[in-house]
Amino acid sequence: MIPTATPATEALRDQFGRRIEYLRISVTDRCNFRCVYCMPREGLPWLPKAEILSYEEIAEVVRQLAPLGLRRLRITGGEPTIRPELPRLVQMLRAIPGIEDIALSTNGVRLPQVAGLLREAGLDRVNMSADSLRAERIVWTARRDLKFDPIRSALAAEEAGLAPLKINVVVMRGINDDEIEDFARLTLTHPWHIRFIELMPVGEMRELTWDHVVPSDEIVARIRALGELAPSDGPARGNGPAVYYRLSGASGTVGVISPLTHTYCAACNRVRLTADGHLRTCLFGDHMVDLRTPLRAGIPLASSFRAALAGKPLEHNLLQMRVGGLRALSQVGG
Ligand code: 5AD
Ligand code: SF4
Repeated sequence: MIPTATPATEALRDQFGRRIEYLRISVTDRCNFRCVYCMPREGLPWLPKAEILSYEEIAEVVRQLAPLGLRRLRITGGEPTIRPELPRLVQMLRAIPGIEDIALSTNGVRLPQVAGLLREAGLDRVNMSADSLRAERIVWTARRDLKFDPIRSALAAEEAGLAPLKINVVVMRGINDDEIEDFARLTLTHPWHIRFIELMPVGEMRELTWDHVVPSDEIVARIRALGELAPSDGPARGNGPAVYYRLSGASGTVGVISPLTHTYCAACNRVRLTADGHLRTCLFGDHMVDLRTPLRAGIPLASSFRAALAGKPLEHNLLQMRVGGLRALSQVGG
């Protein structure tokens, strides 16, 4: 019998045995919004162009990691759809053997323009953000008036065939928590997965404090008041930490993501590639490994990648407010 090599999918484990097959790729640190929970109003010192990986470089990173067991990708930002020619990157990633799923996280504003093009390029699905269904509130939370209509954007994604569609709502007490029920009711008639996210009051936030956090148990209790609520597996192709429910007779599901009240670090399956080519192994850790230098020098990345995984922390320290040098979550794409 011919001896078989270690299966590729066994290769990528961190020091705690967690299998890493999901890479989040930030393509830009810039954004056309300035969400109150994410970025300072005046923006941030943006990365210089020369430090940002080209699409060819991003594809090369993925090409080298795919044989190590990388299976699923998510394109993030900042806001990824503001980087020119994003469909070209999707096309390049789609062509890489071993990659089974390519998703995009977007604020949704440009979906009516780009959903079709991204789908044609090979994108599987999108997560979009929507913190309110009311025009003046959207402008307040995004601190920009771009005439964002979340329902129109969600329908554009659906019509383009980008499914399952997930919609992320960051819940802020006294700001949009009175819309929990309105968002949940959308799932009665639309096959959408609406996920309520506990606000993480980290980074430089002037408008928000820990008092604005609504624990996810409270969110679920309020949705339960709308009707019978049963646990659900949620969308078939989930990668993440959301817990799902379905209102009786609904076409979609509601989910909660609880970075504060329920830690899910033990099941963490992801690492992040920053726009400037560093591998960040935990959203809140300070552990980062530079992949850009070896990449640009033509040195294979496998050993840097393994070194990064060896340092992936067991869990984050969000409750102790240790944020690893981050000024805003936009810098790592959530
Ligand atoms: N708290 C919770 N979620 C956040 N996101 C960004 N900043 C925060 C924060 N402070 C998430 C939201 C948003 C996505 C881009 O990142 O889900 O929709
Ligand atoms: Fe931009 Fe998303 Fe941050 Fe809002 S949450 S400022 S849309 S990156």
